[in-house]
Amino acid sequence: MQFKRIGISSDHAAKDLKQMIIDFVNVLEGDIEIVDYGPAIEVNKSVDYPDYAAMIAEQVAQGKLDGGICLCGTGIGMSIAANKFQGIRATVTWDQFSTRMAREHNNSNLLCMGARTLNHHRAVELVKIWLETPFGGDRHQLRLDKLSEIGKKNFKIEP
Ligand code: RB5
Repeated sequence: MQFKRIGISSDHAAKDLKQMIIDFVNVLEGDIEIVDYGPAIEVNKSVDYPDYAAMIAEQVAQGKLDGGICLCGTGIGMSIAANKFQGIRATVTWDQFSTRMAREHNNSNLLCMGARTLNHHRAVELVKIWLETPFGGDRHQLRLDKLSEIGKKNFKIEP
């Protein structure tokens, strides 16, 4: 198991799904600690997804969490925000195949999903796949190395 301690956050659109995932991980993935970065289920106002993506992405980038799950209406806003942090590979996934590939090929360290685009039971199933699928390494690692170069000062495209 590559994830021991993960964080989870959402915006207002995905608070219920966040709670479902926390309950699932606590009950069925006993070896994994899941830390809730909010918002609390009782918070009855809109919140901004960049704030809640940044909280998790920063902790993952600093190695304080092994990974994170960020949920919003579509997962898209969360992924855009999280991918601004160096070392973050935030992936929006929507089915079993995309979720497995996100781990096997992209070594996803931040799972983004949409509470308005996915059946919530399906989303929980995807969390299980994401947590349990190992990274494939080898040629995929070479591509991740290229990803880390993008944006650096002397970055050159070398196909
Ligand atoms: C909030 O209404 C919505 O924009 C947000 O949850 C998300 O879908 C953004 O990507």
